[in-house]
Amino acid sequence: MNTVINDIEVIKSKTSKINEVDFDHLKFGTVFSDHMLVCDYNEGRWHAPKVVPYQPITLDPSAKIFHYGQSVFEGMKAYKDVEDSVWLFRPLDNFKRLNISSKRLAMPELPEAYFMDGLNALLKVDQAWIPKNEGSSLYVRPFVFASGNGFHASPADAYKFIIATAPSGSYFSGKVKVLIEQNYSRSANGGVGFAKAGGNYAGQFYPTQLAVEKGYQQVIWTDDNTHEYIEEAGAMNIFVRINDTLITAPTSDRILDGITRKSIIELAQSEGIKVDVRKLSVHEVVEAAQQGSLKEMFGAGTAAVVSPISGFGYNGKDYDLPEMKETYASYLKKRITDIQTNKAEDPFGWRYKVE
Ligand code: PLP
Ligand code: COI
Repeated sequence: MNTVINDIEVIKSKTSKINEVDFDHLKFGTVFSDHMLVCDYNEGRWHAPKVVPYQPITLDPSAKIFHYGQSVFEGMKAYKDVEDSVWLFRPLDNFKRLNISSKRLAMPELPEAYFMDGLNALLKVDQAWIPKNEGSSLYVRPFVFASGNGFHASPADAYKFIIATAPSGSYFSGKVKVLIEQNYSRSANGGVGFAKAGGNYAGQFYPTQLAVEKGYQQVIWTDDNTHEYIEEAGAMNIFVRINDTLITAPTSDRILDGITRKSIIELAQSEGIKVDVRKLSVHEVVEAAQQGSLKEMFGAGTAAVVSPISGFGYNGKDYDLPEMKETYASYLKKRITDIQTNKAEDPFGWRYKVE
């Protein structure tokens, strides 16, 4: 049956897969909800989005996404509170960043209403898919890619914007051991590191595989020029605690301007924790580890929220972080998830109600 929600046409799936899903043992991003949002760009404009049953996409073998990698994405989470109200966290920031990413890849920017109204309609249709269990959420993946055809190495003339959702559990289980990268780079000055472009992730897989073979779970990316400064942790921004100060790299065209990162900075500062946004050298981190002033390292991102690091490898040597009872990581993770899930006041106005 076709309906309209928030001005968005909805074509409902005839059957639901929801009873096949074990909501108590959810992995990250492996099962997908019944519907998706689809919006097409052609003849120079975006056309009205629709909610349709979740289904495969048919593309021509010459579609430019396959050859020239015009593809950008976002990652968000939807939560359900005890009263079954549905919440998102700073979704307008994801919308704006999607357009920043698209612009860098010479792709057309989306109108805000198509993103926000489409997202609201999709979440309403699939609200039964939003898990209520502690630590779980509906992971929301908006993405835009070149569906237009041709082998000419130039921007496509047609694109698709899709939002797919996946009820998900945690991204990592437990602490992660990381390798500080001294050879490969995730991004470069003047490059696309600040964009959430699919190719940025493809470029990380091989160096990460090499790190995994050496017994690490993730790579800490350093600056491409000198490899002396710490920039990001896999697909997360990184925070380092030396004594009682939290340090994180300033954003640049090599670093993704993470929504979790900027929220953690504001939260920590509002709790009286000193935050330094500055360049942080590997040398300083190694020295702090040797002197015992390196207290914590953690990654911050939507999927993993706050992911504590147990130790790091650098120059063939491993450094362990201390086991501490009370950490900034666990405190800040609780503060941010309590705000996200409507368990705590939101003095920052970050929470967004889906209606
Ligand atoms: N850095 C990279 C490279 C990422 O892929 C992500 C994930 O989204 C982040 C940082 C964290 O960004 P956010 O907190 O907006 O999810
Ligand atoms: C996110 O944190 O949402 C991301 O996009 C990271 C992703 C590569 C899983």
